[in-house]
Amino acid sequence: MNISSLLILAQTLFGFNAALADITTTIVASSNYGVWEGWGTSLAWWAAAFGDRDDLANAVFSLNSVSLNGVTLPGLGMNIVRYNAGATSSNSVNGERMVKSPSIIPSRLIDGYWIDWTSSDPASSSWLWSQDAKQRSMMQKAKNLGANLFELFSNSPMWWMCNNHNPSGSDDGSSDNLQSWNHQQFTVYLVTIAQYAKNSWGITFNTVEPFNEPASNWWNGRTGTQEGCHFSVATQQDILPRLRSELNNRGLNSVQISASDETNYDTAISTWKGLNTSAKAAVTQINVHGYQYGNGDRSGLYSQAIGSKKKLWNSEYGESDATGSQLISNVILDFRFLHPTAWVYWQIVDGGGWGLITGDNDARSLSGPTQKYFILALLTRHIRAGMRILDSGCDYAVAAYDTSAHKLVIVAVNWGSAQYLNFDLSRFSTPGSSGTTIQRWSTQIGSGERYAMYKDTILSGSKFWSYFATNQVQTFEVPGVYI
Ligand SMILES: *[C@@H]1O[C@H](CO)[C@@H](O)[C@H](O)[C@H]1NC(C)=O
Repeated sequence: MNISSLLILAQTLFGFNAALADITTTIVASSNYGVWEGWGTSLAWWAAAFGDRDDLANAVFSLNSVSLNGVTLPGLGMNIVRYNAGATSSNSVNGERMVKSPSIIPSRLIDGYWIDWTSSDPASSSWLWSQDAKQRSMMQKAKNLGANLFELFSNSPMWWMCNNHNPSGSDDGSSDNLQSWNHQQFTVYLVTIAQYAKNSWGITFNTVEPFNEPASNWWNGRTGTQEGCHFSVATQQDILPRLRSELNNRGLNSVQISASDETNYDTAISTWKGLNTSAKAAVTQINVHGYQYGNGDRSGLYSQAIGSKKKLWNSEYGESDATGSQLISNVILDFRFLHPTAWVYWQIVDGGGWGLITGDNDARSLSGPTQKYFILALLTRHIRAGMRILDSGCDYAVAAYDTSAHKLVIVAVNWGSAQYLNFDLSRFSTPGSSGTTIQRWSTQIGSGERYAMYKDTILSGSKFWSYFATNQVQTFEVPGVYI
């Protein structure tokens, strides 16, 4: 029996009701930051390397227990897939070839389908639909396991559409690399893939995102390590309405456009403000990357999205902190201030702490999961698509409510000394029934517990509490809760 059960016993036996918790938050039952659409990942590099692995597919896209290199993992149950339309091909056309960056990391070149400019007919030899089989394989596995939201995204137009034929970016990194006469062809490329995916792969993309960190100049360019392309705001606003028309012309009216996947919140605000009304009208979803971590005007971007009646996704997040500390800290900031309705991790497999699973996409070697994997599992397995996102009332927790199962989910971290965290549900019309058991799951940041499950927590009146070590993260599911 642990301390918390003893205290509950004392309370039951003696009516003892001292202030048990060191800190308390009151969940704001009336709040509503939208309906959660899900958690996901971008495919691209890791899937192009490991797209035929069923164990990885299960770990990412199912809720099953999965054995990976002898370690049992709780499946993350992600339902969002971002498929990367590649920019690379090895053929020559009229003596012209792709130019490769001298610093390119080979696994970061993604094979594209439109290999020369002589025909836009997808049945012609200008299109090579056998390219990129592994990334497609992972997308199919994801779909078979229940993934239901698919986004087609581009890091660079096909190399031959680029001024310098280098899909890593322009010569100086800060100029547009898409040739001015290929704006329309770039949209034809993306829409042809979307159409082909629908007809031949059984995948209907919900959204198409033509840009990736288009305002940035510090990572893309002719000497870059990956595919990338700068697009000025003026070029973006030329492309967005063309992309909309191209989709409509091919009967893909229900496929939406997301943009602009800027690298951080502040850049996303300035790009969004810079787009003219016809470009904004073409976009239904603002995508932003989370590379500002603890900084940036999340609230400002949320205001822009709400004011423009657009959805808002954190469509790419990653860092090198394998402990999970940065991840939980930044997810909480996103839930508090950005209010995205989806959250997408960049790469499942990568080195240097970036992967949820440590591996090398070039050597094709996999080792084990990072602690970050088990921190993310506390979120993805419990805050599920369809739930309503609530205000947790504090800066150390997130909360979501399942309106059909009447279940409240809280994920909290203790940054302080070991202490009780107390959760006050008094603002719900029914805060669950007193005495009910609340399941909890626990992961210790850095090392230690990995998604350990307990049934030792009990609702007492309209409150419950749990003891947290420093840097312990816990998820709670409270049944029978009515708003
Ligand atoms: C927005 O910019 C595009 C591209 O320059 C242009 O075609 C369009 O007419 C502009 N729309 C408005 C409302 O100014």
